[in-house]
Amino acid sequence: MKKTRIGILVGTKGRGSNMRAIIEACQSGRIPGEVVAVFSPKDNTPAVQNAHALGTEVILVNPDEPDFAVQFLSLIHCMRIELLCLAGYMRLLPKEIVQAMPGRILNIHPALLPKFGGKGMYGMKVHEAVIASGEKESGCSVHYVTEEYDEGEILLQKKCPVYPEDTPQTLAERILPLEHECYVEAINLWIERHDD
Ligand code: GRF
Repeated sequence: MKKTRIGILVGTKGRGSNMRAIIEACQSGRIPGEVVAVFSPKDNTPAVQNAHALGTEVILVNPDEPDFAVQFLSLIHCMRIELLCLAGYMRLLPKEIVQAMPGRILNIHPALLPKFGGKGMYGMKVHEAVIASGEKESGCSVHYVTEEYDEGEILLQKKCPVYPEDTPQTLAERILPLEHECYVEAINLWIERHDD
């Protein structure tokens, strides 16, 4: 069976747990894909170290370079990457990248979009906002990446309860394993839809 060629773009904080979940799911055959590269804006983060430990090539990129979009798209093209997964990358991608890969870039967000997304909504700020709003449910969303923060079509969500005694930390801990399941399932859905 043909394996989908996947790239993962991590962030400077680079904890990389979603990255790990995707690589491990590919390696164990739960995703009919192969992570051909992890792109990181920073060296020596836990994500970079984990990617190396899992035998995945790491390519350092610099989103602040004026020709970042051209260089990045050239890597995507040369490595024949079909699907790009953002995992902890907090910035907007240049529009040239988004426009060159329509429907081929996914991101995961630790809440039930369209609520609790947008500029500045990342990390603990998301869980703080969910708790402050009194929501009884939260979860995570895998969505297509567009030129705006967290606005693309939602591919898959998973839900969990929010308890009255929750802190942002306890809620984040409940959601993280759901993120890993959700990303793996969403990638499988994406592959089914692009099975040509
Ligand atoms: C996750 O909470 C994800 O939803 C958000 O950034 C975080 C990345 O965590 N986009 P990790 O690096 O995958 O552990």
